Order: sequence, then structure tokens, then C-alpha cells
Amino acid sequence: MKKTLNFLYKKEKLTMITAYDALFAKIFDEIVDIILVGDSLNMSFLGEKDTINATIDQMIYHTRAVCNGAKNAYIVCDMPFGSYSTKELALENAIKIYKETKADAVKLEGGVEKADTIKLLTDNAIAVVGHIGLMPQFSRSEGGYKVKGKDEISRQKLLEDAKAVEEAGAVMLVIEGVKEDVAREITESVNIPTIGIGAGRYTTGQVLVWSDMLGFFEEFKPKFVRRYLNGAEIIRSAVRKYVDDVNCGKFPGEDEIY
Ligand code: KIV
Repeated sequence: MKKTLNFLYKKEKLTMITAYDALFAKIFDEIVDIILVGDSLNMSFLGEKDTINATIDQMIYHTRAVCNGAKNAYIVCDMPFGSYSTKELALENAIKIYKETKADAVKLEGGVEKADTIKLLTDNAIAVVGHIGLMPQFSRSEGGYKVKGKDEISRQKLLEDAKAVEEAGAVMLVIEGVKEDVAREITESVNIPTIGIGAGRYTTGQVLVWSDMLGFFEEFKPKFVRRYLNGAEIIRSAVRKYVDDVNCGKFPGEDEIY
């Protein structure tokens, strides 16, 4: 059954995972509440160093794939860097996402400074998920990935951001890379569900990037990631076995030929 916002709002805990294609989306769909087609695909799928050069067409392509695979989960499509730099551009691109995919919502990074944009989108019948705290699209301008909420100024800014995003009409809020006590305070101060990533234990839900949690991305493991599978190693040994079988004439076998 398709998971609507009404359904999600009644749940005490929410689970979100990223997916970029129909195959994995179909597997995750049976298990999680929300699938995020994150612009992290630019790194883990395309192999780029950051999310900055992800494009709207790339996001639409992958969201269509995910929507083809997932029939039940609530689906969120990330708006990539530069696609919402003015509120008019944001509306144009969010409408394109809604028209060309079956995404339930779009997600964009930013707090107080993006409130007008979020309002314009929600006024035009587009559901928006906010994203505050560590915002990967700011990694270049901020000189890296920096945990937020470490001092009073940062704590205040995050609380203001969360309120502004909620008041603008966002349906949910992703909180990334924020000290646990601050993420907890934010969660207690808003009436929309919060989804944490590196934000501790007290957000309404959690999100992880699939290739991190399943051990396919091996370059590094952020502290907040729990690896539930050694995916890369499992694939490697299966492919090795296939190559060995071909090399020693065991594949194809008798029941694998016409
Ligand atoms: O792009 C992404 O995968 C995200 C998550 C890290 C929340 O925005």
C-alpha cells in the first residue's frame, strides 16, 4: 500500500534510505517508509568527489527509475545544486520533477534563507522536504563537511532554520551532521517529522545512503554510518567465482546451454 504523508505522520519512527535505480528501489520498497533519490548519487553512482555538478536531468532520470521499482514507499527527489538558486527557478525545476517523475516530494538544502522558496513550492502544490545542518551542497564554499550545533550561535541558527522551514510549509525535515542534543531540541520544537543522518538518536527517523550502509562505498566510513553488509566483498567473491568457473570450463554447464 502506498505510504502517504498521513500514514507517515502517525508513525513513531521513520526509516529512509537512498536509492538510485529500480532494482534496489524494489528491494527497499518492501521494507522502508521513504526512499530518497539523493544527489549523493553523484558521488556513489557517478563517482564524482562531491554533489555539486549533479543536474536536474540526472535527478529526474534516477527518480523515474526508483519510481518504476518502488510502489509503496514515499519517494523524495533531491533538487541538485544550482536548481533552486532563485525561487522562480526552484518552482520551474520542481514542476519539472513533478511532471516527469512520480516523486511525492522534492528536497532542498537551506533554512531561513530558503523559506520563501519552500513557501512558493508548497503554495503551488509541491511537497517539500527541508534539509538543514551539514548541507553537502555547501561543502565547497565551506571548505569541507562540518558538523553543526557545536556552539550557541550555531544552535540558535539551527533552531531558527528548522522553524522557518516548518512555517514555510515543509512536510518533513532532514537534519544532517548535527550534535545530538541540538537535533533533539529541534525535533522537540517542530511539529513535522525530522529525519536524522549523523544527528543522533532522538530524531523522528533515520536516513542512510544505501551504498554506505551496505558496504559498497569503501573509500571511507563516516562515524555515523553502520555497515550492515560487506557488499563490495560479497560481490567481489561472486565475480571471482564466475571468472574462475569460466577459466576452468565449469561455466556454462550442461543445464545452462540451448
Ligand atoms: O543526497 C543524499 O543522499 C542526502 C542524504 C545524505 C540525506 O541528502
